[in-house]
Amino acid sequence: MKKQIENRSDLQLLVRTFYAKIRADQEIGFFFNETITDWEEHLEKLTDFWDMNVFGTKNYHGNPIIAHNAVDKQFDQQITSNIFGIWLNHWFATIDELFEGENAEILKRRAQKMSTFLFMNIFESRGKV
Ligand code: HEM
Repeated sequence: MKKQIENRSDLQLLVRTFYAKIRADQEIGFFFNETITDWEEHLEKLTDFWDMNVFGTKNYHGNPIIAHNAVDKQFDQQITSNIFGIWLNHWFATIDELFEGENAEILKRRAQKMSTFLFMNIFESRGKV
């Protein structure tokens, strides 16, 4: 039987395994590999982000909208809904590979919702709506 997501160290494993897949992805890896210089810091920040989402902790202080609008600008507005789709496929696959249960489902739903929200904001930030 697979494990339930019960604590921060489960999220650390999820985030680390997920970004290994993302970095190796032929289509979207470059966005991350060319932007993120301190990977340990990024993994810690993303663990804080998901920790807040699942367990309500308050260690994450970033702004995902500003961060993703900036990435889109940096890469000449190349981000599409398909790119978010590839990201989500890796997220779902990593969760299913390692975990099961209620928190696993919450993490899938939150990411799905967030991806629509982030892409909508990117689109609006281009100023052509
Ligand atoms: C549901 C989908 C996604 C979620 C939940 C998500 C979440 C996050 C979060 C929380 C951060 C940290 C922001 C901060 O506080 O600085 C981040 C950073 C980043 N994300 Fe995403 N992300 C998603 C999709 C994507 C996609 C599709 C791309 C590819 C274009 C992407 C590229 C990046 C990059 C390059 C950074 C680092 C930005 C920097 O440090 O300058 N993300 N993401």
